[in-house]
Amino acid sequence: MQTPIDATRTPAWGKLTDLRSTFADGPHKLRRLFDADPKRAERYTLDLADLHVDLSKNLLTDEIRDALLDLADQTKVAERRDAMYSGEHINVTEDRAVLHTALRRPESDSLTVDGGDAVVDVHEVLKKVYDFADKVRSGEWKGVTGKPIRTVINVGIGGSDLGPVMAYEALKPYVQEGLECRFISNIDPTDAAVKTAGLDPETTLVIIASKTFTTLETLTNARCVRAWLLDGLVAAGAIEDTEEARRVAVAKHFVAVSTALDKVEEFGIDPVNAFGFWSWVGGRYSVDSAVGTSLAVAIGPKGFEEFLAGFHAVDEHFAAAAPERNVPLLMGMLNIWYVNFWKADSHAVLPYAQYLHRFPAYLQQLTMESNGKSVRWDGSAVTTDTGEIFWGEPGTNGQHAFYQLIHQGTRLIPADFIAVANPAHPARDGETDVHELFLSNFFAQTAALAFGKTAGEVRAEGTDEAIVPARVFPGDRPTTSIMASELSPKVLGELIALYEHITFVQGVVWGIDSFDQWGVELGKKLALQIAPAVSGDEKALESQDSSTASLVTWYRDHRR
Ligand code: F6P
Repeated sequence: MQTPIDATRTPAWGKLTDLRSTFADGPHKLRRLFDADPKRAERYTLDLADLHVDLSKNLLTDEIRDALLDLADQTKVAERRDAMYSGEHINVTEDRAVLHTALRRPESDSLTVDGGDAVVDVHEVLKKVYDFADKVRSGEWKGVTGKPIRTVINVGIGGSDLGPVMAYEALKPYVQEGLECRFISNIDPTDAAVKTAGLDPETTLVIIASKTFTTLETLTNARCVRAWLLDGLVAAGAIEDTEEARRVAVAKHFVAVSTALDKVEEFGIDPVNAFGFWSWVGGRYSVDSAVGTSLAVAIGPKGFEEFLAGFHAVDEHFAAAAPERNVPLLMGMLNIWYVNFWKADSHAVLPYAQYLHRFPAYLQQLTMESNGKSVRWDGSAVTTDTGEIFWGEPGTNGQHAFYQLIHQGTRLIPADFIAVANPAHPARDGETDVHELFLSNFFAQTAALAFGKTAGEVRAEGTDEAIVPARVFPGDRPTTSIMASELSPKVLGELIALYEHITFVQGVVWGIDSFDQWGVELGKKLALQIAPAVSGDEKALESQDSSTASLVTWYRDHRR
């Protein structure tokens, strides 16, 4: 096992510490940097496949960039990237390869992993997924009463939900007319109740997506949805109330996506209707595997292929671009700069594209389940802060909610602004192009955050002296602007892969295993232990701590 390098003991870390202490040599640094270098925007703007990325409004100079790249070099980011791409078991605590990049390799590639060719396996499953998607889309796949499918419900949670739902929402304009996907994830019975409301079981198909096929929420929801669908068919007189009729209906209305095909069969789903993937695909890195089957049905195989091509373009860039042009590397190292040298504890992602409204939620699992760790991959304690909090909401809604704190609060919150040039729904308000008005906000916000407003400028507007301080904007609030021509399947794939690799870069510098998630286990186990107490088992109640016991008791007293 390659020992993690302690980033804090590298020469580059020392250099960055010095650069940080001399960086803020007065207010409005970004104004001064832009004034001093008319080509700053040009020099710090990079094109990555279809993404146009402007890093110039970051707290960055050439010296800082070079020191950050030295830090990446001294912590061996490139070596670990190569180890990941080649299938080494870099997920140390689970002893697994990490090969989401293999999911988007073209069929002509090959990659030997654990004795087999991963690319061959990937394309075999993709063909099966595409064939299924085509059948559902064309109406060839029929429900038990011979009706075509109108609604696909994806039952899953975490990586088996957030990726598919985010991508489905993002690519709504590409969804085949007459088809709808719904997503059930929460074990709160409200979720399944709301998502099945108004649906006709005869035209509904359910995809149960679970890497392990053991997840409590998913299996509970899967059973509840199966009962809803079969009981609905029986109640409508569509099938007889016999075991055999129910079995036949399950075969027409349920498919599964999992690495545990034996468990899929135990659930009652014919393995013919199951799409596999592999232990080397992490849940939060799986939307481009068979976990994206609902998306493949919605946007079609061609759209899904474009989606994968977007990921692959970014994978190639990350593998081959020179460090000073390598966007995921630079963005990952900028995050290190802010977390470790500016003590930023959160990072906002602000899409100016309504269809990306679930993107921040998706990124929360990707980044925080990956890098929310306090030990390194050899079990030793981390030597510095890790895993910042990712959050965000689409602009302009966020502007009227939390931007105040980003502009004038005491915390530094680096933010990524994402926008597309061409909207899915152009609109005019009289003379005004509404998308242009929308994007004016996007452009204005990053400028205001970077350059602020001085007391002199506030006074020049004739502001009452007493409220001048309240109206000053300090500026120097760092942002990265990411633009694309339109939100296509390819662009979405590029965006996701970009953030996957940013997350990876940060994890390597911190020396952590970004691909395990042991921190989710304890709560899962305790929920199962507490369940009998919640249902009235006095003995189980007694074994709880006093706070938990009293909360459970209050619940039992108030439950109608
Ligand atoms: O939240 C923990 C987790 O293991 C995630 O990593 C995963 O995406 C999610 O649960 C769902 O797991 P599964 O796909 O095995 O049901």
